Amino acid sequence: MLSFEEAKARLENAGQSHVLQFWAELSAEERGKILEEISQLQPEELLEHCRAAAAAASRHSSADGRLDERMEPVPPEFIGSVRKSNKETLQMWGDEGLLQISRGRVAVLLLAGGQGTRLGVSYPKGMYNVGLPSRKTMYQIQAERIQKVQDLAKMKHGCKCTIPWYIMTSEFTLGPTEKFFKDNEYFGLCPSNVVMFEQRMIPAVGFDGKVILEKKNKIAMAPDGNGGLYRALVDNKIIEDMERRGVEYLHVYCVDNILVKMADPVFIGFCVNKGADCGAKVVDKAYPAEPVGVVCRVDGLYQVIEYSEIQPETSELRGPGGELLFSAGNICNHFFTRGFLKEVAEKFESQLKQHVAIKKVPFVDGEGNLVKPTKPNGIKMEKFVFDVFQFSKKFVAFEVLRKEEFSPLKNADGAPLDTPTTARRSLLAQHYRWALAAGANFLDEQDKPIPPKHSMAQNEDPPAVCEISPLVSYFGEGLEHLLKQKNLKSPFLLDENEAKNLVQTT
Ligand code: UTP
Repeated sequence: MLSFEEAKARLENAGQSHVLQFWAELSAEERGKILEEISQLQPEELLEHCRAAAAAASRHSSADGRLDERMEPVPPEFIGSVRKSNKETLQMWGDEGLLQISRGRVAVLLLAGGQGTRLGVSYPKGMYNVGLPSRKTMYQIQAERIQKVQDLAKMKHGCKCTIPWYIMTSEFTLGPTEKFFKDNEYFGLCPSNVVMFEQRMIPAVGFDGKVILEKKNKIAMAPDGNGGLYRALVDNKIIEDMERRGVEYLHVYCVDNILVKMADPVFIGFCVNKGADCGAKVVDKAYPAEPVGVVCRVDGLYQVIEYSEIQPETSELRGPGGELLFSAGNICNHFFTRGFLKEVAEKFESQLKQHVAIKKVPFVDGEGNLVKPTKPNGIKMEKFVFDVFQFSKKFVAFEVLRKEEFSPLKNADGAPLDTPTTARRSLLAQHYRWALAAGANFLDEQDKPIPPKHSMAQNEDPPAVCEISPLVSYFGEGLEHLLKQKNLKSPFLLDENEAKNLVQTT
């Protein structure tokens, strides 16, 4: 660890001497903590980081008109679509994906280092239970989907296979996530196949280019964005781990999408079939001003453009058939080959764009009092996972159905969108559709039939509550022999035990 003199010199070189302004008041333990923190910061990097943050904040503006003129949609030949493909084609991609999984070439990588400030709970978002009948958390649902898709590959190809689960965490989420997995016996997965690693933290900076102190002996730090993935892969030698395990293809996703299809064989198969090194699942934008990033090309390079960076006129442009021209909404579900990840992590990481977020960052004032600012006072710089598309040699997009694959948990209940209620509703609506398609009938508490409803609005609760464990069905497959012509009393939970009962009564 650094001595006081070394830390002081390091901070002076970076123009950050104020960090030690409370030194005389600190206990020995508190001094140790701040020296430890300063030891992690390289002076040149710190100087550059503070300078870049202050400069970026002063340039920070919303739409840049010139960008619009350089944007073009993804050419149709590079887009696959669930909606527009026939059953045989989807089957072919799914078979290819299961084949790759059965050969041990596929892993999933979860981005779970975020602070989840909008949801506002004090623990990692993956530990959140949205109030399903089973009370399962996001982590458990995901673990069970991995298990099921491994089983599907095994059933088809007759060999036991493993999908390693890489989980990127941060200082905020690593400890509780590790404990949660241990306490829950890794939800039935083998612990050696669940690899957690930590992304870096970087200081929040004030508009004057000075790092913000959140305590007298603590710099306000935040994770470096989900694009911190690429540095974290190198820091933690994760690519080597993938190599050792023979992993060739990665499905990267966010922790908060309750409908995420882990290692989706159809998506993997599509990307492999097209020889892509990088791919993105997209959904059709719901309406022109919808606040999602759009996958498109700018000066010939693939990018995700945030909605705030596009002029409204551009968002509203339509093609000859009346469809939105820039309709490919990014849902943070990506495919990467290991080779591509390695190249990005080793060669291009430093070129990734720094995105600026202006936030309210609690700080201590000159007298050492904690202040909770009422307006934004700090700059957080983040890299984004999708900013690597530009380095791809063969990029593809894959359009999926929103109601089947995308319902993120971002906000606390009470907000209009993306809440625990909307996430729960999306999952239960999907499972209700699966049960109806399998031929089930639903009854209410008084055993009266609940008339089936085949189409529901996005924000509508299904008429019966039906939850199906991922251990029983991944895509809605294999339900007919269990549910056909069965009268199911709402709320109905189809877990493995219930599935056994149903088989016995058939
Ligand atoms: P969001 O940008 O939605 O952030 O992350 P968040 O932390 O979940 O929520 P807010 O903005 O604080 O309310 C999208 C995904 O990227 C991950 C998150 O865990 C989530 O899966 N992420 C975000 C990281 O892994 N690291 C980060 O530094 C930021």
